[in-house]
Formats: sequence, C-alpha cells, structure tokens
Amino acid sequence: MYKIAVIGTGYVGITSAIGLASFGSNVRGLDIDVAKVARLNQGELPIYEPGMKESFDVNVNAGRLSFCSDIDAGIKWADIVFIGVGTPQGEDGRADLSAIFSVAEQLSHNINGYKIIITKSTVPVGTNEKIRDIIAKNNVLNCEFDVVSNPEFLREGKALYDFLHPDRVVIGVDNPRPLEAIRKIYRPLFLNEVPFVMTDLRTAEVIKYAANCFLATKIAFINEMARLCDTVGANVQTVAQAMGKDGRIGSKYLHPGPGYGGSCFPKDTHAIAVLAKDYNVDLAIVEATIASNELQKQYAARKIIDQFNGDLHGIKLAILGLAFKAETDDMRDSSAIIIINEVLKYGAEVVVYDPQAMENAKSLWGDSIQFAIDEYDAVKGTDGVVIITEWNQFRNMDIERIINSMRGEKFFDLRNIYKHNEVENYGALYIGMGI
Ligand code: UDX
Repeated sequence: MYKIAVIGTGYVGITSAIGLASFGSNVRGLDIDVAKVARLNQGELPIYEPGMKESFDVNVNAGRLSFCSDIDAGIKWADIVFIGVGTPQGEDGRADLSAIFSVAEQLSHNINGYKIIITKSTVPVGTNEKIRDIIAKNNVLNCEFDVVSNPEFLREGKALYDFLHPDRVVIGVDNPRPLEAIRKIYRPLFLNEVPFVMTDLRTAEVIKYAANCFLATKIAFINEMARLCDTVGANVQTVAQAMGKDGRIGSKYLHPGPGYGGSCFPKDTHAIAVLAKDYNVDLAIVEATIASNELQKQYAARKIIDQFNGDLHGIKLAILGLAFKAETDDMRDSSAIIIINEVLKYGAEVVVYDPQAMENAKSLWGDSIQFAIDEYDAVKGTDGVVIITEWNQFRNMDIERIINSMRGEKFFDLRNIYKHNEVENYGALYIGMGI
C-alpha cells in the first residue's frame, strides 16, 4: 500500500486526501496551519461538503487517514506527495504561486528516497517544470523523483463525488516511470473504466484551464442571451432548452443567472488571459467572457435598481442566497457581493438569508446589513425579494406567505426558479432573468 502525503487541507487537498484514502491508500493530510490540523484531528472538517464527514470518519476510523502539521516529517514518510495548496488570484490577475513554490522548496529539503510529486492544484502552464527545477536545484539528499500534473476538476458541493466519479482523469508526465504507481493509487477508477488521458506536463496544465474557460464561456453566453431576451421579449429558458437538445451543444451549463462566481471560473479565466498575454497570444473569447460576466453582475443589480426608478432610499430588500452557488458556504467572487454592494450604494436597507453562508456574510458586511433566521423572516415588511442562489429550500417556498408578509410586490428571481404566474397569481410582480 502506498503512503501518500497531501499538502494543503483546503478544498482540493482535503477532498483528495479523503478520496485517495477511500481508494485504499494510507494518507496523511499536511498543513502548516496548526489550529486547522488540531481541528481535523478532533474530527472537525474545515469546509462544508455533502457526504464528506461520513467518508472522513470511515477512513480515519479505518486508520487510513490522519493529519499532521509537521510537513517535513510527512514528506519523509510518504512515497507519493500530492500538492493541493491554494493558487489564489494575485493582484495582476496572475495565479499567486507562492504557496506552490514554498512547498517545492520544502520538498527539495526532505526527499529522502524516490518520490512522486503530483500537482493537483490548478497551476499555469510551465509551473510543474518550475516545481521540478526547484526540487532538482536543492535536492539536499540527492534522491530521484518525478513530477506529475494531475489537475482536479471537482465542483464545490459535489467535491467528493467528483473525485470518486470523475468524467476523466488527466495525467501529465515527462517520463513513464511514475505511471505504475498512479495506476495503483487510482485502481478503483481504472476498474470502473474511467477514461485516463495520459499526456505531457504542459498539455495537462492547459487542459484544466481550457475546460474551466469553456464552461465559463458557456455560462456567459447564455447570460448574454438572457439579456437579449429581456430586451426583445423572448424566453431564454426555452432558448436554452432548444439549444441544449443539439447533441453538439448539450444542456449543461446553460442556466442563466446573476453571473458565475466561485473560486475557479473567475480566477482561472483571469490567470489564462494574463498568461496568454505574456506569450503574446490573443485569447479574445476568454477576454470577452471575463468582461461579459462582469456585465451580467452589474446587469443583475441594475434590474433591481431600475424597478425602483434609480433610488433605493427608503426601500427594504430581502436577499435570499449569498453563496456563489447552492450547497456551499463559499462566497468567493459571489455575485451576491456585487449586487448587495450596489443596492446599498443606492440607499437600500438590506436583510439577508443564506442556509450556510451567514458567518461569511457577517464578516463581510457586519452591521451594514441585517441577518434573518430564514427566508420567511427575511422577507417580512420588505419592498422586494431577490433570489440570488438556487438553494433547494428557495425552490419550493410558500409564495403566498412570502408575498403576504412583504410590504411591496417586487419578486426578483435571478435564477429563474419560478414561473411568472406562480408569483403573479398572488398579486406580485415577477422579474426573472431573460424570461
Ligand atoms: C468549477 C468547475 O465546474 C470545476 O470543474 C472546476 O474544477 C472548479 O470550478 P465550481 O466553482 O465548484 O466548479 O462551481 P460550478 O458548479 O461549476 O459553478 C460555477 C459558477 O457558475 C457558479 O456561480 C454557478 O452558479 C454558475 N453557473 C453554473 C451558472 O450560472 N449557470 C450554469 O449553468 C452553471
């Protein structure tokens, strides 16, 4: 059985650690954050993900999963080291690789026998070669090693499921030596005939960015169609349905909304655009996607402000949903941030509710907005309600109760969860996104 160290216990790291342990390896999660490791050792997960706690407990109790803040010791112990640290967006739009390179330095001091270093974090083209060079330059104990690019395609809210049931696994290598070990640690996936794409390091790095940018573009495209439908009086839901039936297009990622957010699409589109500029390559579509998504967030805010004739003083709005999508507490680059800040700027009084993201929202806005205990509490005495995130509990609300407890009658459904008549039957005004 392979001993695997996973450096980083954020989304990618913790999911990989639990997933690899579920596949049967002996896994140690490593993190420099001593307090986080202590919480993990008490059974407390740093993120909310459906099904994750159950799998975590099973693997910890089976002795396949443990956590440690001594990264040097963890590297020395392991046969295989996964890098799962963050690559946030830096000030100039580039991916900030400082955590990656500091891990590479640390690896170079602790490789005490042949080891396979596998990068799971999303990194710009050429990074795996840099990791290899940093390790090779110091390589204190002069041991052999291989660097592998194995990008992760997990979605938040379905992270563990996506790790255990991937559409494909991408493996980038510069020589075949590490492949046997990779086949072993991913054996359940091979048995299930999951497609493995074996390629070189740079191609693997580009695949990750290409996939994310394409999905971001698909969403930006349907959001543009929603803006057009709003103006010409057509229905974007029907447009998307009919488009999706074309096998070449497909129906997924064609749901209009307030603009995509999260930890990946915004960051990755920016990172690839900046990288392409460095290489003098014009990525006109990716650039347009970034701009179009910003426009969509502003458009969503404008929709609300225009309904009140450009002045929100004396207007109270209930915002339902703050996370960048359902089933997560993550608010990174959530459209809710732009929309709430805009309506506050125009003088609105704001009360918010989200099933998971309230703590994050409190640290963002503090006393400048109000926090409700549920959706029915939030809408009381408001002039308008705005659904931003498509949580299941917002999909099946008692609309009559909602409308009756409001002071006004404007119902903004930025995720097109409801139909016009489901709301307008109770005397409210329904405002969707392109419908
Ligand atoms: C994404 C990719 O799906 C994943 O493969 C990658 O590894 C990381 O980025 P994630 O950020 O968790 O995952 O979220 P995802 O479910 O893809 O949604 C991203 C954003 O797009 C959300 O804000 C979501 O609301 C929005 N979205 C998605 C739409 O507005 N419409 C859609 O049709 C789909």
